[in-house]
Amino acid sequence: MRMLTFARAGVLVKTALIVCAGFLAAQAQANEALARKNDCLGCHAVATKLVGPAYKDVAAKYAGQPDAQANLVQSIRNGSVGKWGELPMPAHPKLSEADAKKLAAWVLASK
Ligand code: HEC
Repeated sequence: MRMLTFARAGVLVKTALIVCAGFLAAQAQANEALARKNDCLGCHAVATKLVGPAYKDVAAKYAGQPDAQANLVQSIRNGSVGKWGELPMPAHPKLSEADAKKLAAWVLASK
């Protein structure tokens, strides 16, 4: 009897993990679509430097900093210059605070 209960619990945990992974993947795709829609990917890529820094380098630079997301929201909405090089990032004043937050979190989660 006990074994059976454990087996059932195992299936439940696995199912929960699969559902979670699917949710996270869908979430990442939604954020990528948001980045594409706002032209971020014209200047950025996750893994390579284009005009702007690779998002995984941004994530590495600010890893473990509690105010990283808030700072990136500022950079994304107001523009940024001098942190990564000579080229400035233009401001994105039309981007809502909520969308900027999503994008900042997505950038910080990239590897
Ligand atoms: C015209 C090109 C261009 C576009 C479009 C662009 N960026 Fe950038 N981005 C840059 C450059 C250049 C930098 C480096 C700025 C610096 O050195 O301070 C940068 C820096 C960043 C940083 C790091 C900021 C920091 O404080 O270290 C983030 C995060 C970022 N961009 C996200 C985005 C997002 C999200 C979008 C879309 C809404 C976007 N970028 C659109 C060129 C661009």
